Amino acid sequence: MNQQLQTAFEYIRSRTDFVPRVGMTLGSGLGNFADRLDKVCEIPFEDIPGFPISTVPGHDGKFVFGMIGKTPVVCMKGRVHYYEGYDMNQVVLPARLMHACGAQMMLLTNAAGGIKDDYYPGALALITDHVSLFVKNPLIGPNDADEGVRFQDMSCPYDKELGKCVRLAAEEEGIDLKEGVYAQLTGPSFETPAEIRFLRAVGVDLVGMSTVVETIIARHMGMRVCGISLVSNLASGLSHNALSHEEVQISGKAAEEKFSRLVYNAIQRF
Ligand code: HPA
Repeated sequence: MNQQLQTAFEYIRSRTDFVPRVGMTLGSGLGNFADRLDKVCEIPFEDIPGFPISTVPGHDGKFVFGMIGKTPVVCMKGRVHYYEGYDMNQVVLPARLMHACGAQMMLLTNAAGGIKDDYYPGALALITDHVSLFVKNPLIGPNDADEGVRFQDMSCPYDKELGKCVRLAAEEEGIDLKEGVYAQLTGPSFETPAEIRFLRAVGVDLVGMSTVVETIIARHMGMRVCGISLVSNLASGLSHNALSHEEVQISGKAAEEKFSRLVYNAIQRF
């Protein structure tokens, strides 16, 4: 464990001895899911020594520890992004911290631009695979052998059994669940129509500015990972609208009830 992680972990333990089984990251506009936990403890990021603070509107940063049914969960409400200027080690620190607290599974959520033909704003999609080629790999640097291997296998980044749990939850809740391949780009500018045509041609269905680096770190730590995107908008060039963060947030709020029902149901199957 590096010094920064150790310090942050010790601070968390000074506030709560809660041991989560699932770590969750809530994407843009989806933060209110944290209200559905039977809350045990809440820790604002700014209280944690050395912790990165999100500068993005709609990402009020805190960890919420609590139960969803019988499942102990830690929710990260508001993540930090690479485009904010943080070092990649800082960006993935929260994922490492959730693992240090005991989480064995990671449920990553995000708002994404939709590329696939049958997507619509407000659709939910299970992430089945990802493209990490456009962002700096978070494992660059000395390898911590206590955390994982130097050359991490990524042949099955998203856990098939957890994916089944999400599909079953969608069926039970009567939610139309799409599936797709997610690509993380650095942002913060949105893509051009030509970039979206390029991504579509190489098999990308969902585009965003997060998640993939967290998946890589989680897999390195041996965690099982599940990812869910909210299609907050059709990707650049696929509709007449200009893209804006406001639209992303509004779509998040509009789909929040559906998203919450899906995740609440799915986590209890993990
Ligand atoms: N592009 C990149 N990131 C995003 C988008 C998008 O269209 N929508 C939400 N996050």
